[in-house]
Amino acid sequence: MLLISLYLLHSLALSEPVINPFGTYLGSNSGVPGYSNGNDNNSNEDSYVGNIYSGLKWQCVEYARRWLIITQSLTFASVDCASDIWHIDYLSSTSDSSKYIWHIDYLSSTSDSSKHTSLYRIPNGSKCPPSKGDLIIYKRTETNPVGHVAIISKVDYDDIEISEQNWDTDFWPGNYSRAMPLTELSGLYYLFDFEYPIIGWMSYNKPENVHCADIECVTCSAPDRDKDPKCEYL
Ligand SMILES: *[C@@H]1O[C@H](CO)[C@@H](O)[C@H](O)[C@H]1NC(C)=O
Ligand SMILES: *[C@@H]1O[C@H](CO)[C@@H](O)[C@H](O)[C@H]1NC(C)=O
Ligand SMILES: *[C@@H]1O[C@H](CO)[C@@H](O)[C@H](O)[C@H]1NC(C)=O
Repeated sequence: MLLISLYLLHSLALSEPVINPFGTYLGSNSGVPGYSNGNDNNSNEDSYVGNIYSGLKWQCVEYARRWLIITQSLTFASVDCASDIWHIDYLSSTSDSSKYIWHIDYLSSTSDSSKHTSLYRIPNGSKCPPSKGDLIIYKRTETNPVGHVAIISKVDYDDIEISEQNWDTDFWPGNYSRAMPLTELSGLYYLFDFEYPIIGWMSYNKPENVHCADIECVTCSAPDRDKDPKCEYL
């Protein structure tokens, strides 16, 4: 009887994933810490780097912005869903923001193109490999309704390391939260994630072969307001 109870307890412990509570430090990349979003609720708590807004604690979009602000002095405009980042054409410089709190609405409305850095869309399966600092953008799907964004923090011959928030609440295995396979086939580069599809990666460095970049946004889907009015793009 005791053995059976012990066995049941053990299997219960195995089947219940451990949720690290909201705000738990999980790991860090390039000095940018990642925190647990707990049970994936929307905290509605704003996060700032100094006086620069980075998003809602501790969403995936917040980590991507905070990483860009801290390591590159760049940020991007407001999005409804992580997958909407695929539609963004440029990042904005945060380097002269010392006096004011930078609200995202200001960033999206500023027309001062001297503050803009082009963001190149490189679809999964293109001739340009991903590089360090690129953003991976996951597609919206029924089971992944807002998409997802992660920072590519290292690129090796046959895999990449990424850093992110709100994928799971696990402690990071190193300077990154997950690794995923990278394959080159007939000169085309593919990333593999066995859970969810990605649209591709986005780079603030001009790709060597500029034809890799989808400048015209042909891989961008049209708004689909019927699905979820808060999240306009698939
Ligand atoms: C979200 O969940 C965390 C625990 O994981 C809790 O601390 C936090 O207060 C919750 N936020 C809201 C808005 O419910
Ligand atoms: C994390 O990154 C730093 C700086 O790039 C490096 O020195 C260190 O070895 C890395 N740690 C691990 C566990 O990979
Ligand atoms: C990348 O494209 C390949 C080929 O179409 C596909 O098999 C793979 O699932 C895609 N990767 C992701 C993460 O969606």
